[in-house]
Amino acid sequence: MKLVSLATILFLLAALGACGEATPPGGKRASQAATRGPDPSEIVAALPPDAQPYGLDVYTAKCVSCHGALGQGVDANPALGELKRAAMFQRLLDYRAGKPQGERVAVMAQAVAGMSDAELAAASIYAGE
Ligand code: HEC
Repeated sequence: MKLVSLATILFLLAALGACGEATPPGGKRASQAATRGPDPSEIVAALPPDAQPYGLDVYTAKCVSCHGALGQGVDANPALGELKRAAMFQRLLDYRAGKPQGERVAVMAQAVAGMSDAELAAASIYAGE
């Protein structure tokens, strides 16, 4: 009887230990997200609420002049609207990293230069589907 309760306690302690490991600190979640491809909502949600950029503000300040209020495109700049949020976020990260894309990649690379991951994520949440 005593032996059984000792075993039960050990089991419970082991289970508690496993629970502790299963609750990852913030950094671990971010690395898991990286293997799945970045989710723009997670990038924004990882920040304290008052530090979270608001997608409409970012879009208005940094994107609307070329892509229009409805993402319809302005002059020679292309329309948006086909990309899912995560795909748009990845695309913006690629532009910022200078990866070759369309013919006018340099225009976009300059447009997103100096923007943070969270700003690009917020713009993608607003402008992506
Ligand atoms: C100075 C004008 C300009 C600004 C500002 C600008 N863009 Fe662009 N954008 C372009 C041009 C030009 C292209 C086409 C680039 C290419 O040839 O790859 C483009 C392409 C894109 C694409 C790929 C479109 C597709 O479906 O193929 C996305 C997404 C995009 N822009 C989002 C944004 C967002 C979000 C912002 C604001 C953070 C922004 N752009 C700011 C001019 C601009």
